[in-house]
Amino acid sequence: MTAHFSPWSRAWAIIAGMERLDADPTIPLISANALTKRYDELNAVDAVSFDIAPNECVAFLGPNGAGKTTLMRMIHSAIEKTSGSLTVFDRTPMRDRKLINARVGVVFQDNNLDQELNAREALLVHALYCGLDHATANQRITQLFEWLALQEKTKSTIRALSGGMVRRLMVARALLNSPDLLLLDEPTTGLDPQVRHTIWSLLRQLKRQGITILLTTHYMEEAQQLADRVMVMDRGNIILSGTPNALISEHLERYVLQASGLDELPVINDGVRHERAGDAHYFYSNDEAPLQRLHEQLPTQYAVLRHANLEDVFLKFTGRGLSE
Ligand SMILES: Nc1ncnc2c1ncn2[C@@H]1O[C@H](COP(=O)(O)OP(=O)(O)OP(=O)(O)O)[C@@H](O)[C@H]1O
Ligand SMILES: [Mg+2]
Repeated sequence: MTAHFSPWSRAWAIIAGMERLDADPTIPLISANALTKRYDELNAVDAVSFDIAPNECVAFLGPNGAGKTTLMRMIHSAIEKTSGSLTVFDRTPMRDRKLINARVGVVFQDNNLDQELNAREALLVHALYCGLDHATANQRITQLFEWLALQEKTKSTIRALSGGMVRRLMVARALLNSPDLLLLDEPTTGLDPQVRHTIWSLLRQLKRQGITILLTTHYMEEAQQLADRVMVMDRGNIILSGTPNALISEHLERYVLQASGLDELPVINDGVRHERAGDAHYFYSNDEAPLQRLHEQLPTQYAVLRHANLEDVFLKFTGRGLSE
């Protein structure tokens, strides 16, 4: 991990010198009240209310179609809300779109970069759009390429980049305007584990600099690693909100034995709760001992005894698997 920090630290020192607007910690940086987006018969976002404090990192989790991207889009004025209220930096999206977005960096879920441009050109276009002069833009682009280990690809066209490289380029683009608020819609989907860890380190550094981060992810570990607070969405609603550890301890037993490929169910001791999803079985208990005994009975090599985690919470509240 330390090895990932070093190439950035130099670049970071320059960026860190840039002034960051002091936000009043008592005023929410984002505030939503009964915020709704309706598409025909569907409330893609259904009367959600939440506040996000300056410098908080909040992860939105939720199954496909839960409304995460729709929510993000309203925040950066890509779409108009149907009803309810929303403020960002105490301003109103759409109406104050320019003012707000000057302070916001966005990584979109889909790659919307121009395929014909090369990597440097793609960033330059965006930098100029953000109002940076040529010299500043070029300096910043060089730093960002270094951070995200893209130096060797500056002349490649977007279509010639791998999926993970495009993702990194989109993170770089979101940072061009030194944003105070970062909106990251599945920032690390498709990235290899090493690059994912690199991006996590970068995001932690940005957070230490006072940046507020709102991200969506399907990686529970990402939420666990980065988020001060997690909100779980399902069918347009926020169904759970809390710190990752609080959600785990509030909603689940401490330990879980997870097993698959069982021909028959073992005898389950008292105090052990059993759940089934497809051919996977989950045995929960606050004591490790009964699960250990159960573990020994199981013939399968696919049984693992572990602490309950955020993924267990997610599955408990949003259903296990697509078929259910
Ligand atoms: N432009 C649109 N027109 C009609 N329906 C839409 C539109 N955009 C989104 N939806 C619907 O709104 C719901 C929420 O979609 P959204 O993209 O916000 O989900 P998501 O939580 O980001 O899912 P994923 O994890 O798959 O990215 C879905 O049912 C989707 O089909
Ligand atoms: Mg989405």
